[in-house]
Amino acid sequence: MAHPVALIPGDGIGPEITEAVLAVLNAAEVDLEWHRCQAGLAALEAGDPVMPEETLETIRRCGIALKGPCTTPVGEGFASVNVQLRKALSLYAAVRPVRNLPGVTTRFDNVDLVIVRENTEGLYSGIENEVVPGLVTRMKVATEAGCERIAHWAFRYATRRQRRKITVFHKANIMKMTDGLFLRAAEHVHKHEYPNIEYEIAIIDAGCMRLVQDPGQFDILLLENLYGDVVSDLCAGLVGGLGIVPGANFGDDAAVFEALHGSAPDIAGQGLANPLALLMSAVMMLNYLGEECDDDESAAAGARIRDAYDRALREGMKTRDLGGELSTADFAEAVIARL
Ligand code: NAI
Repeated sequence: MAHPVALIPGDGIGPEITEAVLAVLNAAEVDLEWHRCQAGLAALEAGDPVMPEETLETIRRCGIALKGPCTTPVGEGFASVNVQLRKALSLYAAVRPVRNLPGVTTRFDNVDLVIVRENTEGLYSGIENEVVPGLVTRMKVATEAGCERIAHWAFRYATRRQRRKITVFHKANIMKMTDGLFLRAAEHVHKHEYPNIEYEIAIIDAGCMRLVQDPGQFDILLLENLYGDVVSDLCAGLVGGLGIVPGANFGDDAAVFEALHGSAPDIAGQGLANPLALLMSAVMMLNYLGEECDDDESAAAGARIRDAYDRALREGMKTRDLGGELSTADFAEAVIARL
C-alpha cells in the first residue's frame, strides 16, 4: 500500500526543487501518496495563515512530510513558519548528516559527521519583549525533560547507526544554568545508559575552531537549538555548501524531511537552485520508511537514487553552486538517466 506523505513545496526556490525531486522519485517508482499542502508565503498568498492548521493536520495524519524551505522576514513580520511547525508537532530532534560527496572537491576529504540539534527550546522560545524603549530581551529556555529527551535521542541514534562518539558543543561557562542543564543531561545519559559511546564536550567557540581545522575528528555533534542552527551551516561549508546537506526533524509522532538551506530568494525562479539537498532529504525519508515501516521497496529505491546522484556527481553533472552549469531540472534529468 502506498505511504501517505504530506508535501509542502514552500516558497522561494522551494517549488522548483520540489518539482525536480518529484521527477526523480516518480522515475524511481516509489510507492508514495502525496498530500500537497501549503505553508509560508505560499499559504499567505492563498489567503491562509502562514502555518495553516490544515497543513499541520495533514502532517499529523500522514506521520511524515517532505518540505521545501519557507521564508521568514528579518527583524519584523510573522514568526518563523519552520519554528512554528517544529513546535506544533514537537519535532524536537533535527538531524543533519554532513559528508563529502563524490566529485565535490573541498579543503577536506574526511568529513562524515551528523549534527543532532535540539529543535524546540533555547532562544527559539519566541519569548521576546521590549522592557522599556531601547531595552529588549529574549528568553533562552531549557527544560530538564527537553534536554534529557534530545540526549536520549542522540545516544540512541549513535547506537543504531554504529557511530563511535558524541561531542556536545556548549557555552556553559557563560550560560551556566541553561547550557549547564543541557550538558548535565547529556553527561547523565552517557554515564548511566551509554557508557560505551565515546563522549566529549567542547566550549562552542573552541569547538568551531577545531571543526574548521580538522572536521574528521568529529562524529556526532549534539547541540542546543541556536548553536545547532549556526554550526549546521558551518559544516555545510566544509563539504561544498548548502546545496548538498539534507535534514530531518523527528518527533515521537511525526517526521518532517527538509534540506538545511533556506528559500534562497537571490536565485529563486531562475532554475539555478541545486535540488540535491532536498533529494537527499527524500532519500532519508525513504530509508526511514524502510527502518520504521519495514518497507524494503522504499529503502531499495532510496539506495538506487543515492547511487544515481553519486554517479552523476562523479561524472561532473553539477549545478552552478558546485561549479557546474546544469539547471535544477537538468540535474534531476541527469540523476534520472542514471537510475
Ligand atoms: P539560504 O539558505 O536561503 O541561502 C544562503 C545562500 O545559499 C544564498 O546565496 C543561496 O542562493 C544559496 N543557496 C541556498 N540553497 C541553495 C541551493 N539549494 N542551491 C544553490 N544555492 C543555494 O539562506 P538565507 O538567504 O539566509 O535565507 C533566506 C530565507 O530562507 C530566509 O527567509 C530564512 O529565514 C529562510 N530559511 C528557511 C529555512 C527553512 O525553511 N528550513 C532554513 C533556513 C533559512
